Amino acid sequence: MDSLLTYENVDISFEKLPVVHDISFSLHEGEILALVGESGSGKSTLIRSALGLLNDNGKVTKGEISYKGTNLLSLREKEMRQIRGAEIGMIFQDAKGSLCPIRTIGDQILESMSAHRKINKDEAKAKALELFEKLNFKDSEKLWNSYPFELSGGMNQRAAIAITMLLNPSILLADEPTSALDVAVQKQVVEEMLALRELFGTAIIIVTHDISVAAAMADTVLVLKDGYMMEYGPAKEILHNPSNDYTKMLLSAVPRLKRRQEIV
Ligand SMILES: Nc1ncnc2c1ncn2[C@@H]1O[C@H](COP(=O)(O)OP(=O)(O)O)[C@@H](O)[C@H]1O
Ligand SMILES: [Mg+2]
Repeated sequence: MDSLLTYENVDISFEKLPVVHDISFSLHEGEILALVGESGSGKSTLIRSALGLLNDNGKVTKGEISYKGTNLLSLREKEMRQIRGAEIGMIFQDAKGSLCPIRTIGDQILESMSAHRKINKDEAKAKALELFEKLNFKDSEKLWNSYPFELSGGMNQRAAIAITMLLNPSILLADEPTSALDVAVQKQVVEEMLALRELFGTAIIIVTHDISVAAAMADTVLVLKDGYMMEYGPAKEILHNPSNDYTKMLLSAVPRLKRRQEIV
């Protein structure tokens, strides 16, 4: 199977300080890759670099990041805007960051969809409600008319993910999408992402410090520590039979999460 997104020997620095070192991996169609590591290990930096979303002081100093054969690092901002959203969608820990608090979910969907293609309001709404139904949202019409402040944190995140998916990206980059949510709601968000993979064959990079989320979702796991790749391979092997001491520590250090694994 061809790779959708490939990192080859990628180094990233902020100012002159290197924070990501020599990372290589490939993401294939429909694959779910969990990027696991403690806070500050470089997970967000690594995925943001693909979309040119590092702050001004952040720079890929070595290596290549390519999407369907195109070197993303050589794109101008205008070209990158064609990729962001429509080809590679991204969601964040706090859905409030991606949703506007004072406009309805419906209005935000119309804006997002019309920014990328010509589509009339009725078509866009029909497409959105169809996706809401597929994702088992309770009252799609009500959700369409809701303001983010009227929704729970979990529902905001689920709506943000659905909005992102309405542009049919082939890759979803999800940066700690469940970290701000309580366990029961985390499970719904995890299930939503799994459903999207089933429905659309979306490839997903799930960034998480929570091993139970990785265990519930991932086909492959990449373990990062201080910007270095500790381990990369099939989730079954890495989560059940880790060879790396750091991975063993991650797995054993948090018994609370191990118990949660059974729930998720
Ligand atoms: N905008 C920035 N400027 C300077 N250093 C940064 C910036 N963003 C992140 N870093 C540094 O890069 C390292 C990795 O951060 P990050 O990618 O956010 O880790 P993670 O997502 O795994 O918690 C950290 O040491 C962090 O302090
Ligand atoms: Mg982060």
